[in-house]
Amino acid sequence: MDKKFKRTLVTTALPYANGPVHIGHLAGVYIPADIYCRYLRLKKEPVLMIGGSDEHGVPVTIRARKEGCTPQDVVDRYHSLIKKSFDDFGISFDAYGRTTSATHRQLASEFFRKLYDEGKFVKIKSDQYYDEQSHEFLTDRNIEGECPRCHSQGAYGDQCERCGATLSPDELINPKNKLTGNPLVKRATEHWYLPLDQYQPWLEKWILEEHKEWRQNVYGQCKSWLDSGLKPRAVTRDLNWGIPVPVEGAEGKVLYVWFDAPIGYISNTKEAFPDEWETWWKSADTRLIHFIGKDNIVFHCIIFPVMLKAEGTYVLPDNVPSNEFLNLEGEKISTSRNWAVWLHEYLNDFPGKQDVLRYVLTANAPETCDNDFTWKGFQVRNNSELVAIYGNFVNRALQLTKKYFDGKVPERGSLEEIDKAAIAEFVNIKGEIESHLDQFRFRDALKAAMNLARIGNKYLADTEPWKAAKTDMGRVATILNISLQLVANLAIAFEPFLPFSSARLRKMLNIETADWNALGSLDILNAGWQLAEPELLFDKIPDPPIEAQLERLARIKEENRLAAWQAEPQKPIVDFDTFLKCDFRVGRVLECKKIPKSDKLLQILIDDGMEKRIIVSGIAHYYNPDDLVGKQVCFIANLAPRKLKGVESQGMILTAENPDGSLVLITPGGDVVPGSQIK
Ligand code: MF3
Ligand code: ZN
Repeated sequence: MDKKFKRTLVTTALPYANGPVHIGHLAGVYIPADIYCRYLRLKKEPVLMIGGSDEHGVPVTIRARKEGCTPQDVVDRYHSLIKKSFDDFGISFDAYGRTTSATHRQLASEFFRKLYDEGKFVKIKSDQYYDEQSHEFLTDRNIEGECPRCHSQGAYGDQCERCGATLSPDELINPKNKLTGNPLVKRATEHWYLPLDQYQPWLEKWILEEHKEWRQNVYGQCKSWLDSGLKPRAVTRDLNWGIPVPVEGAEGKVLYVWFDAPIGYISNTKEAFPDEWETWWKSADTRLIHFIGKDNIVFHCIIFPVMLKAEGTYVLPDNVPSNEFLNLEGEKISTSRNWAVWLHEYLNDFPGKQDVLRYVLTANAPETCDNDFTWKGFQVRNNSELVAIYGNFVNRALQLTKKYFDGKVPERGSLEEIDKAAIAEFVNIKGEIESHLDQFRFRDALKAAMNLARIGNKYLADTEPWKAAKTDMGRVATILNISLQLVANLAIAFEPFLPFSSARLRKMLNIETADWNALGSLDILNAGWQLAEPELLFDKIPDPPIEAQLERLARIKEENRLAAWQAEPQKPIVDFDTFLKCDFRVGRVLECKKIPKSDKLLQILIDDGMEKRIIVSGIAHYYNPDDLVGKQVCFIANLAPRKLKGVESQGMILTAENPDGSLVLITPGGDVVPGSQIK
């Protein structure tokens, strides 16, 4: 660590407690932060990893109303579930709090009040949408109306989910209260704003000049915000869920969730470390690092630093290693559309396989661009990397030692060229992994650790100790000693990334703790050291559980399609005479067969009450020709005849189309004489 710093304070974005956490959360924020903190702890550097649940904000209130419970019920439930998922995956928080705690409420209020008293806010009056029947101002997400672009109903005040357009409530046609359906009026309201514009020159210097080392995606986003000019941002809302604005005459107003949540980093530290939190947050020699996803960049690089700067007693972030997004099977992960792999469900389906997911999400981390999680990719990484490379090498080295030396570490004799070459390949591993981790390149660091196992496999394949065993046990001893040192190196190198597997491997090696400084050493295990019974470190994942996951996603996709379905808008009005021109009738199917060279069309012979006629209908996917014979159907009798696949159709049979495109015949509700008119 840079000499000017004495301690590292790591924060991880506080997940909204309005749903469980998924692989996108892990990959984007919590795994990299956890690797980083475990690494610093292994190096015995002072570090705190701070997290917690973000429990205010509109999404929580929406969920509560939908489920008919209180917002507090919602956050209680999800806070516990989220906390458990993090525990289960070994995310090693030193503090994990919540923004509904008394400590947080008090600290956030005091923070606001200090800025208020010192005149750091500006007060601005504006017109906002108001519901006169429920007496409430509406936030963007709680307003619903017709989308000005695609004209679907149910677009939100900030976005249309149908066409993806970003909207403002003013653009919506016929805005309504999403929950009550009441129409809205404009009403004046006053709020406190953080005048970001006043901090623009300072931010330009602090970020654009003094933090050129920030990741390109982070630096670039900051630059584009700054280039387009900052405006004052409201830090209060008219809402009844949140921390009350601690100012006389501000009844019905709460702190904006993005004002209170980042203060949660501080209050969660305070709650867990009541005596030390100020040292961590207020010393110039603390290095503050925010781990976040890319949708959080502006809040952590611009708004929160301005809050901290205005307050004046806290440290500013030194780095904000933000990741891009992880997609799932090619589509954006979405909590509301259930398009996600939920951590608690993953553990039900793959018990004990935390490290497999940790591995895949790190190897595939969206560090420089959006990345895709696929179940096939997950299986391949497990089977051909964890099992075939890491697990295989460890197992071979341990089994051979058991076989030839009763599981005792053999003595290393004089080295041959081939040994020296293998050793030369891994002695620099410590520096290599460190330089990647120090610069938040977790993917590369993991690759370097995995490379140790590749070196080991190649070494065993080249030296073939099972052949040497026939002639020269001294040679076998040397080869296995070197291999076992490599295995011990693997246990240490993977410790920050795959803590569960490293613990199991250490158990097999009979060593209690990992010594990071020993990384690269050839003398971790002394000759004569008794190893424990070897076990397989990883198992192959067969096809069926992977297929089950893909089927689950296919089901969800179908459910979403149905949920997003909207009835076609009504056609223009026709007068009664026009309607009477159409001759609708009931007929009975006499014969029915498929039309050759068409998979859709059936040729149907109908008793139409007058004589017989042939009608061609596109229902072959949904009806068996034989099953239709004898059925009553409705049809238009006077439609101009058309030829379809060479067959003339005299009319059209009436069907209804489902959202999935399937067709259902319209049939009379009781027995009707063929030829009867439908009116
Ligand atoms: N809850 C926010 C999100 O999921 C993150 C809040 S981070 C904090 O996007 F800094 F505000 F805590
Ligand atoms: Zn739209």
